[in-house]
Amino acid sequence: MTMRVAVAVSGRGSNLEALLRALPPGAPARVVLVLSSRAGASALERARSHAVPVEVLPDPSDAADWLERLAHHRVDLLVLAGYLKLVPAAVIARYRDRILNVHPALLPAFGGRGMYGHRVHEAVLASGARESGATVHLVDEVYDRGAILAQGRVPVLPDDTPDRLAARVLAVEHRLLPAAVLAAAAAGRAVPLSETVESSS
Ligand code: GRF
Repeated sequence: MTMRVAVAVSGRGSNLEALLRALPPGAPARVVLVLSSRAGASALERARSHAVPVEVLPDPSDAADWLERLAHHRVDLLVLAGYLKLVPAAVIARYRDRILNVHPALLPAFGGRGMYGHRVHEAVLASGARESGATVHLVDEVYDRGAILAQGRVPVLPDDTPDRLAARVLAVEHRLLPAAVLAAAAAGRAVPLSETVESSS
């Protein structure tokens, strides 16, 4: 049975794009809905160009509205891909163990409230860490705390800037997130990915 996936976005949508490309017709998972917290998100154009239904949340804190939309599209798995708002607790409770997030660092390091976008990479560089990476994890009520399903590592290079590190991490995200979704589709539920995605670039 095809796993029906909703993707929540707030901005650029490159992870959404990677996911859509990894799920051609006939794949075990299908993106049936893209939810956005922002009407102007360029992710919405990407969804439309793949003919995926797009809905902009009028109030991202309205749990009943989320639940209605997810039920209407018979969503099995919700993926947060660059989604910057808090998912309402009632949604997390209803979709427990069925919500994934991709984070641009090796959690539990460099996660938590306020740790998003460039701030993550700036913090990694400031810490002197020798490596960073991406994490796909289950979403619970606390930012970036849920069980880790997959991680991919990249080196931090001596001349790195936040931009360069972000690009290196993003390339890993683009492999890791589709792999995690495909693993979930194969297992019928979100599962830890056995293989670790490495990048030496
Ligand atoms: C990614 O780095 C993701 O890990 C983080 O936000 C960024 C979103 O990028 N949560 P995009 O919108 O998928 O291009």
